[in-house]
Amino acid sequence: MKYARAALSLMALVALVRCGEPESDHYVAFERDFSDFRSWPRVAVGSAPLVGHSEGQRYVYRRPTPAMQGDGGAGDGGLAFATGTVLVKAVESGAADTWRVFAMVKRGGEYNRDGARGWEFFELKIDAAGRVSILARGVRPGVAYDAVNEVELTCNDCHRAAAGTDSVLSGAALP
Ligand code: HEC
Repeated sequence: MKYARAALSLMALVALVRCGEPESDHYVAFERDFSDFRSWPRVAVGSAPLVGHSEGQRYVYRRPTPAMQGDGGAGDGGLAFATGTVLVKAVESGAADTWRVFAMVKRGGEYNRDGARGWEFFELKIDAAGRVSILARGVRPGVAYDAVNEVELTCNDCHRAAAGTDSVLSGAALP
């Protein structure tokens, strides 16, 4: 009896742990997903001023993963990114611990259904020792102020406009 109960609670524990694991249609990122982003393939995307961004050369990094093979075929010659895709954008000027660092992770499913569908947004931070941490995450981790038009812009405001490239603005240029 005692053993049966222990076995049952063990099974419940295993089920709980399983829930936290990424599945093919659902991916939740943690700090470890970003820790080595500076070693990933990257592309320079621009340095002209952009609302809510500090000055400097911007780079987009893409985590190499077998899931990348599943890209493409979104119709209209567009792009579709597989669940589990991790993109990091860094505005690189000065020491790395002063950079603005953004990320998008394809969680998949109905996540952020009214915005950049399937994508979760992040603001990251690199500390003086080079460690990467998550400052904020979600569908609205922060807002940028557009001083010219006097409006606040969220990540979704700019990114959902790129419907043909799965909400990724530097779409075809990516590594
Ligand atoms: C003012 C519009 C604007 C806002 C607001 C904005 N972005 Fe972007 N984002 C861009 C543009 C434009 C690019 C294309 C690369 C470039 O030129 O910097 C981009 C690129 C990116 C990329 C690389 C993948 C891609 O789409 O090309 C990530 C990751 C990213 N942004 C994250 C974020 C996050 C997180 C937020 C909110 C905290 C955010 N962005 C808010 C305009 C915006």
